[in-house]
Amino acid sequence: MKPVIIDCDPGVDDAVAILLANKLPEFNILAITTVAGNVSLERTTYNALGLAEFIGLDVPVYRGAAGPMFRERVDAAEVHGNDGMAGIDLAHSRKEVEGVIAWDAIYQHAVAWKGELELIAIGPLTNLGMAFIKYPDLPKLLKRIVIMGGSTNEGNASPAAEFNIYADPEAADIVFCAGVPVHMCGLDMTMKALMTPEDIERVAALGSKEAKFFRDVVQGIIAFMKKLGVDGINMHDPAAMLYAADGSIFKAYPAGIRVETRGSITLGKTVTDLYSDAKWPKNGFAVMDVDCEAFMARVMELMKQYQVLAG
Ligand code: RIB
Ligand code: CA
Repeated sequence: MKPVIIDCDPGVDDAVAILLANKLPEFNILAITTVAGNVSLERTTYNALGLAEFIGLDVPVYRGAAGPMFRERVDAAEVHGNDGMAGIDLAHSRKEVEGVIAWDAIYQHAVAWKGELELIAIGPLTNLGMAFIKYPDLPKLLKRIVIMGGSTNEGNASPAAEFNIYADPEAADIVFCAGVPVHMCGLDMTMKALMTPEDIERVAALGSKEAKFFRDVVQGIIAFMKKLGVDGINMHDPAAMLYAADGSIFKAYPAGIRVETRGSITLGKTVTDLYSDAKWPKNGFAVMDVDCEAFMARVMELMKQYQVLAG
């Protein structure tokens, strides 16, 4: 099993990703760290605490950055709802997060796991950027980083940039330059990991409270995407999570990746050298494709593991 920390900004698709991670046999989930992103840090942290309790994931939750390293915070409340959970209140008994801030917790776990720790980051990369700035020896203590973020081509927060990178471009470039292999699960792949309303209903029909939550929590985004002419929801974070567990149903290519931090119209673009002879160092992998049928089968297989409670 891989020791992993999930850094996230729940967030609807973060919530689905964590539902799946909780059942992935490949993971030893050590902790959740939260960051401002889709909504405020207060909300992403509240949602992470509630979600962990809702699915019986008994791991520490560490609060991280309330905004990007050098810029004003942007959010995606128009997509995820002002509470970040499409109006679903995951009330919970554990009111407090751990007393250690996320980047210190990442470092402490990295030291403890002596280079085996993998980070799965499905929100803005501020916590990871802070960790690398504060702890110069962290890179050699991490096995790899898998992110949902970026793209070799299109954007969603702007024509050039994907939201997680756009929200904190400087932190993202620090991560790509840190010397740890970064597996970029960008829009090239995640836009293909589309679940239709019929797929969602097949999950709900499994009958567990978690399966019904899965259906309920994505309805707002499905409505949002319908206005854009898309019938369904792009499973951005869940696809990155399944890639982190088992890359066999995905296609990833070695790449040199840097982030535009000075452009006005290109700010936050992950400039990716896949084919040129520019000789950029291959600091990571661009995950470009997914076997959608296998993706759906894996989602169903994992969601079947949640028990249907009598009554
Ligand atoms: O662009 C999609 C990403 O931005 C996802 O991680 C979603 O949760 C938002 O954070
Ligand atoms: Ca996210």
